[in-house]
Amino acid sequence: MTREQAYKLLTDHVKGQNLIRHCLAVEAVMKALAKNFNEDEDKWGNAGLLHDADWETTTETPERHTLELMDWLEDFDLEDDDALKQAILAHNHFHNGHEPPKTNFEWSLFCCDELTGLIVACALVQPDKKLESVTKESVLRKFPEKSFAGGVDREQIQLCEEHIGIELPEFIAIALEAMQAISDQLGL
Ligand SMILES: [Fe+2]
Ligand SMILES: [Fe+2]
Repeated sequence: MTREQAYKLLTDHVKGQNLIRHCLAVEAVMKALAKNFNEDEDKWGNAGLLHDADWETTTETPERHTLELMDWLEDFDLEDDDALKQAILAHNHFHNGHEPPKTNFEWSLFCCDELTGLIVACALVQPDKKLESVTKESVLRKFPEKSFAGGVDREQIQLCEEHIGIELPEFIAIALEAMQAISDQLGL
């Protein structure tokens, strides 16, 4: 599946600009993590880009989130991309009954999904609301603050240390740099 096909599938099904931006952010971070692990950047990027493509159609049925997308993916030749499907399915395992993440790929998507939200929140409290004003240190300072971006699951992010072997400060640095590189697309 090409990036163009993935992007078209996403934008065919997602109307909300913030959700598209979230998917672009997760794509960028997943590509950076793939590079870090010497894995397939395009495949990891596509998993990030697509992971929430059925979010708007499953808002009333969270247990269907990712399963609708699996149906749509049937139209594509994804024989070699089982890992991509597994990563997408595992990111919603709390609701869809799938197994929790197991591989580096699956854990990477699961952990960075929430981190992108924390980084966006950190940008929005900067005087200029820009990602370029956010530092790794400022994200780390906000990390334990429960009153800040309360919807962001810190535990889910911190599992990076146990499951993909990247310490939290490094994980934040990788994600922040990847998001800063596409700040114009993120509108931040
Ligand atoms: Fe999701
Ligand atoms: Fe997400």
